[in-house]
Amino acid sequence: MELTIRSAIYLAIAIIAITAAVTKIARGRRRTSDLACNRPPPPVVNCFALLGLLPTLFRNDLPAMMHQLYIKFGSVFTISVVGLLKVTFLVGPEVSAHFFQGLESEISHGNLFEFSVPMFGKEVGHGVDDATRNEHSRFVVDALKPTRLKIHVDPMVQEVENYFAKWGQHGTIDLKYELERLLLLITGRCILGKEVMTMFDEVCKQFREIENGVNLTSFFFPYSPVIPSNHRRDRAREKLHSIFSDIVRSRKLRQRDQVDKDVLQSLIDSRYKDGRPTTEAEVSGLIISLLFAAKHTSTHTSVWTGARLLTHDKFLAAAVAEQDHVVKKHSATTDGRIIDHYSFLMDMNMLHNCIKEALRLHPPAPMMVRQAQKQFIVRTREGDEYCVPAGHTIASPIVINNHMPYIYKDAHLYDPDRFGPGREEDKVGGKFSYTSFGGGRNSCVGEGYAYMQIKAIWSHLLGNFELRLLSPFPKTDWSKLVPEPQGEVMVSYKRRQLPTT
Ligand code: HEM
Repeated sequence: MELTIRSAIYLAIAIIAITAAVTKIARGRRRTSDLACNRPPPPVVNCFALLGLLPTLFRNDLPAMMHQLYIKFGSVFTISVVGLLKVTFLVGPEVSAHFFQGLESEISHGNLFEFSVPMFGKEVGHGVDDATRNEHSRFVVDALKPTRLKIHVDPMVQEVENYFAKWGQHGTIDLKYELERLLLLITGRCILGKEVMTMFDEVCKQFREIENGVNLTSFFFPYSPVIPSNHRRDRAREKLHSIFSDIVRSRKLRQRDQVDKDVLQSLIDSRYKDGRPTTEAEVSGLIISLLFAAKHTSTHTSVWTGARLLTHDKFLAAAVAEQDHVVKKHSATTDGRIIDHYSFLMDMNMLHNCIKEALRLHPPAPMMVRQAQKQFIVRTREGDEYCVPAGHTIASPIVINNHMPYIYKDAHLYDPDRFGPGREEDKVGGKFSYTSFGGGRNSCVGEGYAYMQIKAIWSHLLGNFELRLLSPFPKTDWSKLVPEPQGEVMVSYKRRQLPTT
């Protein structure tokens, strides 16, 4: 999953010759509709400005680079790679509505995600038409809706308790390593199905090969037979498909009351509007794509939440105090046992805001992209109007959106209270002020699930252990497709005298 910004630029230059022909044809076709627009196009980042970005670019500092451009060009601007490849950036909630809410015929993923077809299979995602993809989204939404989360919560909490029961009285661990392993176990149990637990290492190994298939060369040439990682990715996908197809087949032979109510089963039970059931290949493809969407996002957020809490005593103390309070409130017995884990986790507003704030400062998806299928007009906060032509790639930089100074007070500071009663800063600029989970039509369907599992982990850690961050506060490793805390995140732990859960 190595994808450095520097190598991106080199490769982008290398492929210009190829994209030139395609872009010229596309622009030629669209010229008629573009003629009707009577607003100017967005300001274009010129060569001098791009050269000025080079030092930041070589430091791989994406937020600094975006910030520099925002300060100089405002909330709507276009980067043009010698006039052939045009990316228009929309910064801030005022200019983001079309990005998130425009019709599929106006703004869509286009072919930007073609590279994901050989990862998950041609039966799902960007391998199928819009109507089928919408039906698949419905299946996933159903599998992750609150009534289903109430079913997933007990196995989730069980995995968390089993995992930390293996820790000693005190010790030192790498938080990144520990939380990644734990989240994989939770995913195995609640999403993939417990059958995979017997071949868990093999599933993880094959999944890693699929992830390693995401690189710049495969992005531009996803089907090229001469790229070795493409070969390994395809072999791994076939193996995973075979593993999941076997599980689906065996589940279909079992009585309904003998199968688990995990996400895999929801997808097996899903029906298209015409009554048709999902196929083995569709279920396998959907489950692999869910693993991809859930794994790094949740792991990195859990680690950032920990790193932030362990360096902010005030919020750590508030989160621990909340634990004591909600445990008392939800304990069915004097030994502090919780019966309704769903309500228990839902009641942790402070912890929720601590995670939300970690996500504001460290969004796992720092930039979202679409393709403009039709030209559209954006109006900035200052009242300027621009016409963005069809054919442009449109980018929404979450990494800057989450830092707007007129929305977030002292935006660079970790301050979970900004989401609390009386402040609610994320509501100030309307519904696109906080976009760590995206927004509108394509927003994250796993948000509730993600919060639930991260809360289950941190609720247990805060209630049962005293923790101390030994490493310096981690820098962000921007060289990864999903940016992550750089290096090991070493933490010491000591079991509290009286475990609360
Ligand atoms: C902290 C954790 C997570 C973050 C920050 C996150 C963030 C996002 C974002 C920003 C998008 C929108 C991408 C776009 O519009 O281009 C997205 C989409 C998606 N996420 Fe998440 N995600 C997280 C966890 C999860 C989990 C746990 C699951 C599944 C269990 C999941 C499933 C999905 C799916 C299926 C989509 C595609 C939705 C669609 O296109 O209709 N995510 N996520």
